[in-house]
Amino acid sequence: MMACVRTQVGIVGAGPAGLLLAHLLHREGVDAVVLEARSREYVEMRVRAGVLEQTSVELLREAGVADRLDREGLVHEGISLRFDATDHRIAFTELTGRSITVYGQQEVVKDLIAERIAAGAPIEFEVADVAVHDLTGDAPRITYTDATGRGQELTCDVIAGCDGFHGVTRDAIPAGALTVYEHVYPFAWLGILAEAPPSHEELIYAYHERGFALHSMRSPRITRLYLQVAPDESIERWPDERIWEELHRRLAADGFSLTEGPVLEKVITGMRSFVVEPMRHGRLFLAGDAAHIVPPTGAKGMNLALADVRRLAGAVTDFLRHGRVDGLDAYSDACLRRVWRAEHFSWWMTSMLHRAEGDDAFQRRLQLSQLRYTATSPAAATSLAENYVGLPFDAT
Ligand code: APR
Ligand code: PHB
Repeated sequence: MMACVRTQVGIVGAGPAGLLLAHLLHREGVDAVVLEARSREYVEMRVRAGVLEQTSVELLREAGVADRLDREGLVHEGISLRFDATDHRIAFTELTGRSITVYGQQEVVKDLIAERIAAGAPIEFEVADVAVHDLTGDAPRITYTDATGRGQELTCDVIAGCDGFHGVTRDAIPAGALTVYEHVYPFAWLGILAEAPPSHEELIYAYHERGFALHSMRSPRITRLYLQVAPDESIERWPDERIWEELHRRLAADGFSLTEGPVLEKVITGMRSFVVEPMRHGRLFLAGDAAHIVPPTGAKGMNLALADVRRLAGAVTDFLRHGRVDGLDAYSDACLRRVWRAEHFSWWMTSMLHRAEGDDAFQRRLQLSQLRYTATSPAAATSLAENYVGLPFDAT
């Protein structure tokens, strides 16, 4: 027997997008049910992005979920572009008056799940067979199998597809209703989490003839490091010693020494840019990675997800409380303006910093010229800085 339940907003996916949306709606008195395929432990442990724009920090603060972020987040006032074995600092705060905060995506996820559970609001983990139906009517439905194996049906006013790039909601939209824009890069990132204090106070984006490397962190005890590798690279070919050796080479600079430590995690991720337009089909609204992907070089993925649901929460609340559809009708175009700015910025950072197979000396000289210009011209540095710290929500 299938159990039938009604809610105002059915949210598929408990990543940053789904969870912040549920929280913002709850504060407005709008009911939602969050459905997540994985277990709570899994989503809380999954290591993903780690940089919050100042705009995102302010959003989480206004939403009342930034206590631990304010205590434990690491505020950074700049980053280093490292090339020619020298650091060139981009001074965010001096240039824009704003900063970024290093705080793991899974910490944001933990805070939002704790908040939802404390509020006694519905969230179900380990659901399966999620499917969405009747998207163009006024009572769209979600069917799924719950954690006990029971078939369930959820009738909603609105469905939010927050189920990431590999989710099911985007694929439920008929072919022809969406346009896909995509670019796949000819390289991937090998990321490690190391139990070692960061070797530098700030993030280092290193351009090197052997390929890009990034020094980041999660806490005063944990370093996050990345290496550009081939797109089809296999992790077995990268024992820890080889990773450290390569990091030492690519991050080498006068007066810098890289602190090693036990490798806690090791993963290879492909790099892609992807956008679907529009981010809506009838009563289904896509948000976050379900609608768009950026390569990680600009640190924009989690920030875009949060910006989407900020707008969606307002639009859905206006609709359900006051019957107004203008916010819902404007949702896709308004989000896409910010999305495309981030797409361009992430593509630009990626193109400036990576070495692609087959790149010739002409391209390398162009990259170095762009790096030098960005490092020395206050106008160019400010352009990088204002994109990195996050443009105001309605600026784009
Ligand atoms: N049913 C239910 N849940 C699903 C399904 C499904 N069929 N498919 C995927 N999910 C869940 C995933 O397990 C995940 O927890 O949806 C969630 C999507 O979360 P994210 O992938 O974190 O996406 P989003 O919330 O949009 O956040 C974007 O994630 O990939 C990073 O860099 C990206 O930082 C960005 C952020
Ligand atoms: C990270 O810390 O994981 C990180 C930081 C900056 C990026 C990408 C990832 O551009």
